[in-house]
Amino acid sequence: MEGLKNRVEWLMSMIVVVTLMSHAAESRQPVLHRVGGGRFTWDSNINFTDWSRNEHFYVGDWLYFGFDKHIYNVLEVNQTSYENCIDKDYIYNVTRGGRDVINLTEAKTYYFLSGRGYCYKGMKVAVCVQQIPPEQLQLNLRFQIIFIMPPTMSSFLL
Ligand SMILES: *[C@@H]1O[C@H](CO)[C@@H](O)[C@H](O)[C@H]1NC(C)=O
Ligand SMILES: *[C@@H]1O[C@H](CO)[C@@H](O)[C@H](O)[C@H]1NC(C)=O
Ligand SMILES: *[C@@H]1O[C@H](CO)[C@@H](O)[C@H](O)[C@H]1NC(C)=O
Ligand SMILES: *[C@@H]1O[C@H](CO)[C@@H](O)[C@H](O)[C@H]1NC(C)=O
Repeated sequence: MEGLKNRVEWLMSMIVVVTLMSHAAESRQPVLHRVGGGRFTWDSNINFTDWSRNEHFYVGDWLYFGFDKHIYNVLEVNQTSYENCIDKDYIYNVTRGGRDVINLTEAKTYYFLSGRGYCYKGMKVAVCVQQIPPEQLQLNLRFQIIFIMPPTMSSFLL
């Protein structure tokens, strides 16, 4: 009797965990990514390749650039311009007051650099933005329930 009670309790707690996971996945809030990792880190001594490698960017997220606008700027450019540090004919000028944000509205790789020669000192960043796949999250969730629940219970719930 005691063993059965424990098993039921364990099952119930697993169901709660799965439910919480599904909520976390579905209601993912947009993330504000501080470029370089801090409040004022669009700067020439930061390795942005290292920074972006540890971030995950999804459509709807935001990038924040904190910098001294008298020294640096932020320009969105294409891949060719990014690779060659060309700041002419950019796509979009992100620069406003030096605490500037941009909405990542598309699933694509965005390229940013600082003009005025600082791109050559490493002030450029490529950000690969991904679509959140909702169907895939649903599938994962169903598999988890099937694994956790005994057959009778899972056929009742699904
Ligand atoms: C920016 O992204 C949010 C989601 O984070 C979206 O709801 C909003 O419509 C976007 N705004 C603009 C101006 O594109
Ligand atoms: C990238 O932008 C530069 C500058 O505007 C332009 O000359 C070049 O043709 C563009 N390259 C591509 C592949 O769009
Ligand atoms: C970008 O915009 C800022 C603010 O409007 C402006 O001061 C700056 O000259 C612009 N930079 C370029 C390269 O167009
Ligand atoms: C950033 O660090 C990586 C190694 O983690 C290195 O390969 C790369 O050259 C560095 N980039 C710059 C601009 O220093």
